[in-house]
Amino acid sequence: MSVSYNEKERVFRLDTPGSTYLIGLVDEEGFLGHIYYGRRIPDDNMQYMLRVCSGNYVPFRDKGDQVSFLCDLPTEYPGCGLGDFRESCLRVETKSGARACGLTYVSHRIFGGKPALPGLPATYGGEQDCETLELTVRDAVLGLTARLSYTAFEKLDVICRSAQIENNGGESLKLTAALSACLDMDNRDFDVLTLHGNWAYERMIGREKLGWGKYRVSSNRGISSAQEQPFMALAEHTATQSQGQVYAMNFVYSGNFLAQAEMSQQEQIRMVMGIEPESFGWRLAPGGVFQTPEVVMVYSSRGIGGMTRTFHDLYRRHLVRGPYKDRPRPSLINNWEATYFDFDTEKLLDIARTAAESGIEMMVLDDGWFGRRSNDRSSLGDWTVNEEKLPGGLKYLSEQINALGMKFGLWFEPEMISPDSDLYRAHPDYALQIPGRSGSLGRWQKVLDMSRQDVRDCVYAQLHKILSSANIEYVKWDMNRPLTDVASFALDGDRQGELHHRYVLGVYEMQERLLRDFPNLLLENCASGGGRFDPGMLYYSPQIWTSDNTDAIDRLRIQEGTALIYPLSTMGAHVAACPSHTNSRSTPFATRALVSLPGCFGYELDLTRLTPEEKAMIPGQLEDYRKYGWVFRTGDYYRLASYSENGEYDALMAVSKDKRIAVLDYIHVMSRERRKTLCLPLEGLDGAILYRSSETGEVHSGAAWMYGGLMLPKMKGDFLGKLIVLEAVET
Ligand code: GLA
Repeated sequence: MSVSYNEKERVFRLDTPGSTYLIGLVDEEGFLGHIYYGRRIPDDNMQYMLRVCSGNYVPFRDKGDQVSFLCDLPTEYPGCGLGDFRESCLRVETKSGARACGLTYVSHRIFGGKPALPGLPATYGGEQDCETLELTVRDAVLGLTARLSYTAFEKLDVICRSAQIENNGGESLKLTAALSACLDMDNRDFDVLTLHGNWAYERMIGREKLGWGKYRVSSNRGISSAQEQPFMALAEHTATQSQGQVYAMNFVYSGNFLAQAEMSQQEQIRMVMGIEPESFGWRLAPGGVFQTPEVVMVYSSRGIGGMTRTFHDLYRRHLVRGPYKDRPRPSLINNWEATYFDFDTEKLLDIARTAAESGIEMMVLDDGWFGRRSNDRSSLGDWTVNEEKLPGGLKYLSEQINALGMKFGLWFEPEMISPDSDLYRAHPDYALQIPGRSGSLGRWQKVLDMSRQDVRDCVYAQLHKILSSANIEYVKWDMNRPLTDVASFALDGDRQGELHHRYVLGVYEMQERLLRDFPNLLLENCASGGGRFDPGMLYYSPQIWTSDNTDAIDRLRIQEGTALIYPLSTMGAHVAACPSHTNSRSTPFATRALVSLPGCFGYELDLTRLTPEEKAMIPGQLEDYRKYGWVFRTGDYYRLASYSENGEYDALMAVSKDKRIAVLDYIHVMSRERRKTLCLPLEGLDGAILYRSSETGEVHSGAAWMYGGLMLPKMKGDFLGKLIVLEAVET
């Protein structure tokens, strides 16, 4: 049993295979004290832990000094205005302007499985997978109830949290913050891990020592963003890939977020995550309910690598859905970097024919096929085929491509509207716009008001028509600018603070509709590359375009950061042209394929312009993808060496769950004068199994490969690489 209540001790416990989480009811009023989270332990009666932070804590608060009590109490879901001066999870404003909220225990429920969150993406699991504790707490003065949900997974060190806030009082309330989770702890000499970046350089790993005050990452761009990722982890300062404790949070949400770690007096740490409060305000009428998105909490006592593998397993098994969840993803050729807007049917078919000859499985037609779009200045919103470029339309094109034995896929950018479009001329109010302001363009476009049902219906009807008009088996859903001028013609003044969240809910609703109406569709999300690579999007699309940066060497770092939490099976990775369109670097064709191989593999260049030698390599690359792609997709991932750390070489490895095969993707980036051969200790093998190396034919035990190491092949020159396979030898 993973969740239980010890009535005598007044303690709730959640157990996962390697962790325990304890919540205690404190004082006769029933404050929710956070007692413990960490390695699995048998005890329930650990209330003494509350003293660690608040040195003078006694189980009953001193009626004469209620402030000091709340000031230090490690707690589960902090309110505001009554003595807890750290970050609040819930901030409420009454009609009269009072801003205070304090929540105490009312009741609880424990049940198998995990309920879905209405309108929101979330991890899922049946009764055999997980158990849920639902704690109901209340502020009696406000007449406000919060249902705090904690789901512990049976086989993974994961606890998922969310909160549902209900106004049971007689007057309207305004939520000015409604975060999803809080974790109060004592300091363990923590570093904060984050993923930051910008366009074409997404998810760079950041590691900083946590000091006094608040360390926050957030997005107010309306999307999770390329700049910051809705992820934060506290890792012991000495933690490495393979050892040390790590506490991580990741937000299953695709809009504005806040992730913050705070060190307050007494060296207490509070980590919180949720919707970013500054751009948020939600009017809760009597009877109204607000559901927060979900936070995934991962605990690892096996270092950063342990955290990574837990996230990967959770997302592959309990977040990604649909027919492609466990299926190999088709290798593809995308025409964007091959042609940009300059194409016609013949050019596309030239590329498709070359792709088919090489064995590529799908052709994706990117931006520029609709309206009068010959550059990025027009036509978003007018989703009708440009027959001048594509005579016979998508039906003809897709039939030709299907006849070559390939699937056909298509690009859309459904959340956008070009001022130069028929849609905008007919419905200027469909765009987010502040009355009196002309509205800021980004990439020449405005953002549609996705909070409005009529706007969504209008765009969806167009998408539906196109997708029904031809055999389109894949959609790339793009989103190419952040939200500004955030106001809706359809919302009252005092509800405009709801718009950011309503926008995200609108996107989710539309993607859900798409999957329901086209259940076999393979959806790939994208936002100027990886600007919305988050767990929320993964609930709808099993893969996401990782970055517009397709240079193989820059990609090493981007993919390393992405794979810190997201499975390799979710990362779109394509072999692109050289010199690179991003940074003009040239790398060998073979190396570009090696870097892309662990992800959702494809090509994004004009295949007709390859040299005969390059063209001849493609069938072998596809063969590697077919033969070993499943190990990357379903196996355990180990980060063995990081080019961004050592400046010389990069190595990742995937080991199949049964440990019979391991694939090492080694990239020799920079040659350095070395007298000795590099010896790389492997990880994750079975010490007792004998494995043969595809590189040398040598057979050694897993123990030898792990504790002795594998001699990396010596390479002369830069930007080279090798795929080395270790296969179990029958004995
Ligand atoms: C974004 C995407 C690219 C491509 C272009 C098309 O930048 O990330 O892959 O689809 O839009 O305009």
